Amino acid sequence: MKNGVITQYGLCVKGIEMTLETLNPVDPAFIACPFPAYEKLRSESPVTYLDYGQGFWFVTRHDLIVQAANDPETFSSNIGSLATATPTAELLEKMRAVAAEGIRNVPSLLTADKPLHTRNRRLVARAFTPRAVELHEPEIRQACRGLIAHWDVSKPIEFVSQFAIPLPVRIIARALGVPASRADDFKRWSDGAVALIGSDLSDEEVLAAMRANNELSHFIQSEIVDRRAHPGGDDILSTLVHATLSDEEASDLEKGTSKQLSDLEIVSIVRQLLVAGNETTTNLLTQLMVRFHSEPHWWKSMQDDPAIIPHVIEELLRLTTPSGVNRRRTTRPVELGGVTIPAGADVLLAYMSGNHDEQVFSCPEEFNPDRKNMRDSLAFGKGIHLCVGAPLARLEAKVAAEELVKAIASYELLEPDHLAWNQTFMLRAIHKLPIKVTLL
Ligand code: HEM
Repeated sequence: MKNGVITQYGLCVKGIEMTLETLNPVDPAFIACPFPAYEKLRSESPVTYLDYGQGFWFVTRHDLIVQAANDPETFSSNIGSLATATPTAELLEKMRAVAAEGIRNVPSLLTADKPLHTRNRRLVARAFTPRAVELHEPEIRQACRGLIAHWDVSKPIEFVSQFAIPLPVRIIARALGVPASRADDFKRWSDGAVALIGSDLSDEEVLAAMRANNELSHFIQSEIVDRRAHPGGDDILSTLVHATLSDEEASDLEKGTSKQLSDLEIVSIVRQLLVAGNETTTNLLTQLMVRFHSEPHWWKSMQDDPAIIPHVIEELLRLTTPSGVNRRRTTRPVELGGVTIPAGADVLLAYMSGNHDEQVFSCPEEFNPDRKNMRDSLAFGKGIHLCVGAPLARLEAKVAAEELVKAIASYELLEPDHLAWNQTFMLRAIHKLPIKVTLL
């Protein structure tokens, strides 16, 4: 297969042949095109032990991923940090010193189990009701138009930094009630948190990412103090600071559970909103440009009939699965797909692979927004950890696509043979995408 050509896997660069024995998920060739390896894993070893980092059980078949995601008592999310690196003793000591300068992470959503997760989810969900999310539509549209208006199309546009990064960062900053002037800091902080997940980092990079996390935590803490002193705001942070469970909502929780979130919990939740929301949405928007470069008739279809855009976005989400691999830890020995996973084992649920499972999605590599079983898509997860920000992500992607097809007549990827993938297989994403744009 030649670099950059359109394959059954989309615009995909297949660097090396992989066997199950040589499979290395942080290998740049795997990150560039994991789909052939996922196909092999699904058919030959859908629950397989990977001797990478501290060792992981990789689950790649759709039915088995769903089985695990729907059994949070066995497949716990209480995994402490989402970071996957296994530090040396020397690095661990330095990490402890940096961590001591920050604010302690507590289990919140992605990293919490029942009953704590139930309580937190009920409180956080208030900030993501359909009504709360719809209110963001005008500012999303305005942000899209503003970003496009700033493009100098006589030169190449670097789509990731000139559209896909700033859009979700601006929207989440606005939604949290944080001044837009801190948007660049937000991106840096979010990058720091994401970098620790599934990447192959140098010691210095690990420490820099942790320092960025500390800065974010202290900033959020000061914003919380401000919200407590000035109630009445309608931003997410105000909602989290003042949200209180009713007696009825708290009735099935353990006696003595606080009906409000503590500062420590809010800091951890906001960190997770940034980690979970920014990079994933950026990735989805970038993949939109990559995908329709290779299938431009879809661009025309969206221009002719914007009503198809939500379906196009769902199919794009399925094919690209921006949050591709998520972690769990077993609480007991468990049999999955005929394999016994021991207690205390790290498990990776490969939602991205499940979304390409031929047993569930016919002709899985084909772009088909009319699929009848789109509900089976794992793009936003399954079970109790189903993405709480999905309505916001869908809205951002829909409005962005509407504004992009309205503005752009055609575009070219300038380096289709050298797509710049990041280093993480869990949040696999393209971090640079130069394009030549012709506006309408
Ligand atoms: C295209 C964009 C997005 C994708 C593909 C995505 C995907 C996912 C997935 C797969 C999960 C489940 C993780 C697991 O099973 O362990 C998840 C959870 C989560 N997402 Fe998203 N997400 C996106 C955008 C957002 C946004 C915009 C926010 C908030 C601003 C957000 C906040 C969260 C949170 C807080 C969780 C944890 C929920 C819980 O544990 O109950 N996500 N997301």
